[in-house]
Amino acid sequence: MGATVVVGGYFGDEGKGKVVAYLAQRDRVHIVARGGVGPNAGHTVDVAGEKHGVRMIPSGYAHLGSRLLVGTGVLVDPRVFLQEVETLKVRGRVGVDERCGVIEERHIQYEQGNEFMAKTIGSTQSGCGSANADRVLRIARLAHQVPELRDYLTDVPRELDGALRAGKNVLVEGTQGFGISLYYGTYPFVTSKDTSASQILADVGLGPTRVEHVVVIFKAFPTRVGQGPFQTEIPPEEAQKRGIEEYGTVTGRRRRVGLWDGAMARYSAMVNGATEAALTGLDKVDPSCRGAKRLEELSPAVKEFVRRAEADTGVPFTLLSTGPEVSEIIDLRNGGRR
Ligand code: GTP
Ligand code: IMP
Ligand code: MG
Repeated sequence: MGATVVVGGYFGDEGKGKVVAYLAQRDRVHIVARGGVGPNAGHTVDVAGEKHGVRMIPSGYAHLGSRLLVGTGVLVDPRVFLQEVETLKVRGRVGVDERCGVIEERHIQYEQGNEFMAKTIGSTQSGCGSANADRVLRIARLAHQVPELRDYLTDVPRELDGALRAGKNVLVEGTQGFGISLYYGTYPFVTSKDTSASQILADVGLGPTRVEHVVVIFKAFPTRVGQGPFQTEIPPEEAQKRGIEEYGTVTGRRRRVGLWDGAMARYSAMVNGATEAALTGLDKVDPSCRGAKRLEELSPAVKEFVRRAEADTGVPFTLLSTGPEVSEIIDLRNGGRR
């Protein structure tokens, strides 16, 4: 049995937090490991009446049986990390790879004071780009050099290898999305690293032969925060009129909203090597589907939307999300096919 990796197929904020939280519980995942850039990401987890926007801790925290690991390639902001450890009460089961790069105050200040980063790119100003630059220049500090992180240090690849060898479920959580990948996105309006499945796996130290499922997440109405091209964007007034407007988890900025982009979805599924896909926000296509847990509860319009997404990408959509809460999902894996 191999690992499952979950990545974003559009411009980020597709609902990775929600889907990862669901999978961690449903599959009783032994380890949830987070890859991606760092605390520029915000994953919303809405479970049992409690909602959190997590920036460092893996979104599977609500499943108490999961160990939570921050992968080697992920930048750690010790203040954000330690605060989330307290808020989510996960102290005994969270680990940070000893080789993670560290975000320092000067990285944040640089991004806030840099016109190109702050205005032209519309960076989250969380210090990630600047810290990754330092890592490339080989002047970054690493997690093992930060005394406050001492209790959490581990070797993430070794832990994942051990779990997989013991036949346990491993879930790898990506952050950001394909359209803001440093390599494949709309450069220069991108984040500071590749965001495709291969990179997310490198972030946690898993080689390509250790993976069984590559789940690419799309949202029915893609969104984008910050600047950069967005082929299917609709005016904000229209998004508001249709009740599909959104605001950012990290920065609170209004997200730009667009329509389904089949060409982008296809290319993204291709580069990510998708074995299957997830679709979130089906309740925004037809509010009557809110909270549906079975395929039969979906309206003809929503079923048609899913069929089109499958035709566009060439992969089966096995997880259909019908609302923000973790339990609002139709799970078609394991034979529950149409
Ligand atoms: P990044 O790693 O930052 O890209 O974030 P993410 O993919 O975890 O997504 P994020 O939580 O930032 O944004 C997704 C938003 O959609 C959140 O507000 C979720 O609560 C919400 N959401 C997730 N699934 C659904 C769904 O099926 N329907 C609706 N209406 N909202 C959803
Ligand atoms: P940075 O990664 O903070 O430098 O931001 C660069 C660009 O990526 C900006 O347009 C951000 O809005 C965007 N971005 C970075 N992380 C995320 C994310 O997790 N979700 C959505 N957009 C993101
Ligand atoms: Mg987000």
